[in-house]
Amino acid sequence: MSNTLSRDFVEKGAWKEGLFEGKVAFVTGGAGTICRVQTEALVLLGCKAAIVGRNKTKTEQAAREIAALGPSADCVLPISNVDVRDMGQMEDAVRQTVEKFGRIDFVIAGAAGNFVAPFHSLSANAFKSVVSIDLLGSFNTAKACFPELVKTKGAILFVSATFHYYGVPYQSHVGAAKAGIDALSNSLAVELGVLGIRCNCLAPGAIAGTEGISRLSQEDPEKAYGKRVPLQRLGTTTDIANSTVFLFSPAASYVTGTVQVVDGGMWHIGTHF
Ligand code: HXC
Repeated sequence: MSNTLSRDFVEKGAWKEGLFEGKVAFVTGGAGTICRVQTEALVLLGCKAAIVGRNKTKTEQAAREIAALGPSADCVLPISNVDVRDMGQMEDAVRQTVEKFGRIDFVIAGAAGNFVAPFHSLSANAFKSVVSIDLLGSFNTAKACFPELVKTKGAILFVSATFHYYGVPYQSHVGAAKAGIDALSNSLAVELGVLGIRCNCLAPGAIAGTEGISRLSQEDPEKAYGKRVPLQRLGTTTDIANSTVFLFSPAASYVTGTVQVVDGGMWHIGTHF
């Protein structure tokens, strides 16, 4: 199954063509599976985007492929060699985006680091690395984009998880970081609401075709885990795309400070994979 979107998302999907025309998105982690499909959805609906990453080859290739879904080859700007832990680099990435596209309306703070590690083998630096990429990186992203979001009355979407709702072994570093992201989003939603800036989180569950799910099993993940999910299947990248579009769309103009869980109901049964 493909984990990227096609024109069908516009032609056969729930959203109006051109919904995001004139808008510009700034996306960290845009070359990874989840944030890439989020960017694809926005671009298919007319948005321009800057995708920010550490790896030059990966970021530039993803930008080219996402741009092929949009109106022109330069509707997606790759900005590489950027580490979200470095505020100066983030400010420079914002500057390049505004220079190219003139504005920033939507921010996806999605850059993340993850590995499966038992607590006893997790060094202080390993814990710090993940918390710094996920949580400090999300703060830096929001902070660097803030002056532009004030001008556009824009919206931020943080990428969270459900690990911290019930405690998943070997994910103590990620759970701690994602809990912090939820708290950061809630605070900013309340503080920045008066400026017309909305802040929400998207929390994906087990999504087929992602790096995360493929790390969990050598077997076919759908066969191995699909029936454990209340909705009887793994999620798809289209499920992530649809929730993302909703949260940035005018349909969500009164929605801020929420966590949109996209996991087929999995976290309610309190088990992990
Ligand atoms: C234990 C580990 C480790 C592992 C790294 N470390 N991998 N410890 N188990 N598998 C430790 C290192 O030994 C080091 O600690 C510290 O972490 C920092 O490692 P560096 O490689 O120096 O850090 P850095 O270059 O900043 O890399 C960050 C990273 C890396 C998080 C460690 O994996 C990364 O860049 N990941 C980005 C891509 C990614 O992870 N995507 C996942 C997206 S989310 P010491 O003490 O030795 O100095 C996803 C959901 C998955 O996929 C869900 C799965 C359940």
